[in-house]
Amino acid sequence: MDYETPLFFHVMEYADAADRDVVDMVSGNPDWEPPEALRDGLREYADFDPDRFQYPASEGLSELREEIAARRGVDAAQIVVTNGAGEANYLAMARALERDAGDEILLTDPVYSYYPGKTTMLGGTQRYVAAGAEGQLDPAAVRAAASDETAAIVVNTPNNPTGAVYPAETMRELVAVAEDHDAVLISDEVYDHYDLSGQFASALETESTHRIVTNAVSKSMAVTGLRVGYVIFPPELVADAKSRHMLVNVATTRPGQYAALKAFRETGPDYYERNRELLRERVDTFTDALEAAGAEYTTPQGSFYVMARFDGYPGTLANVERLIDEAGVAGMPGEAFGDSRSEWLRFALVTPRVEEAARRLAAYFD
Ligand SMILES: Cc1ncc(COP(=O)(O)O)c(C=O)c1O
Repeated sequence: MDYETPLFFHVMEYADAADRDVVDMVSGNPDWEPPEALRDGLREYADFDPDRFQYPASEGLSELREEIAARRGVDAAQIVVTNGAGEANYLAMARALERDAGDEILLTDPVYSYYPGKTTMLGGTQRYVAAGAEGQLDPAAVRAAASDETAAIVVNTPNNPTGAVYPAETMRELVAVAEDHDAVLISDEVYDHYDLSGQFASALETESTHRIVTNAVSKSMAVTGLRVGYVIFPPELVADAKSRHMLVNVATTRPGQYAALKAFRETGPDYYERNRELLRERVDTFTDALEAAGAEYTTPQGSFYVMARFDGYPGTLANVERLIDEAGVAGMPGEAFGDSRSEWLRFALVTPRVEEAARRLAAYFD
C-alpha cells in the first residue's frame, strides 16, 4: 500500500478529463456558500492600504488568535495560525516526533491518508489500530497498541472517511493513553461543525499537557481554498512549533486571516445549522438510493462522506476509474484509506446531484 502521495488529486484530474458528464464526489470541497461576512471581509481587504498587504505576524494575526482562544477556552499564546488543518497536523506531528519520546505514530485504519504520508516525511513510523465496522475507535485497542515508542496518537473526529463521531469517554481515554505513554494525542477536529449526532466532544474538554488540537475554517466555512487553520499546543510545546511554522511558511495568508476573523465574529449558529441540515438531507437521499440499489453503506454521524460497498466491485483505483467512465460517478477508492476498507468506495456529499449519482450507481450495479 503506497500512502506516500495521496490519490485525491489524481482521481479529481481523471474525473475532469473524462469525456462524459461525471457527478464529482471525490473531494472534500463543499459546494455550499461561505458565510456572507467572509465574502465581505475579502472584498474590504482589496481596498486596504499597502501596509496591510505585507507580512503579518508569523504566528497569526493577534486578533484572530485571541478570537480563537476565547472560543476554545485556551490562551492565545498556545495558538499558531496555519495554512489549513493540513499544516496544523504537520506541525503537531513534527512536534510530537521531536520530543524524543518515541518515533511511532499510532493511526487508525481506515485513516485520512495524509497522516501516513506526513509520518514518513517526518521520519516516523506508522502503527495502525483498526476502527470498528461503524468506524468507532476502541480506546482499549489503542492502549494495547501504545508503548514507549509511541510519539503521538492521531485521531480525527468527526471522521473522514467513516463518518464516526467519538464520544466524550473515548476522547478522555485517548488523552489518558497519551499521558500514560508520555505521548501526545493529536485530535484533528476539522469537521466539528458537521456533527450530525450531537455527540461530538473536543479533546480540549480534557485538560492535559498531552494533547494537541487542530482545526481550520476550510470545511466549517466552506472555503478549502482560503487556507486558514490553527493548532492549539500545550504551552510547553508551542515555541518550537512557531519556529518551524516560520521557517517553512514565513506566515499565513493575511487577507484570508482577516476574512476568517470577520466571519468568526459575525456569523451566527444558524449558518452552521443550515449546512448541517443540507448535509442531513443529502445523507438521507444518497443512502436511501444505495439501500434501494442493494449496496452496503455507512450512515455518517458527522463529516460529509458516505462509504459504500458493491458486491464484486472492490475499492481499487482501477474500479474508481471504471466507475467514472462507465457510470459517470466519481468517488475515492477505499484502499486509499487503508487495508480495512479496500472493498469500499467513498463518496463526498459535496454536490446537489447526490440523487442523480445514486441513480447512476443503482443502474450500473443492477
Ligand atoms: C481529516 C482531515 N484533516 C485535514 C484536512 C485538510 O484540511 P485543510 O484544507 O484545512 O488543510 C482534511 C481535508 O479533507 C481532512 O479531511
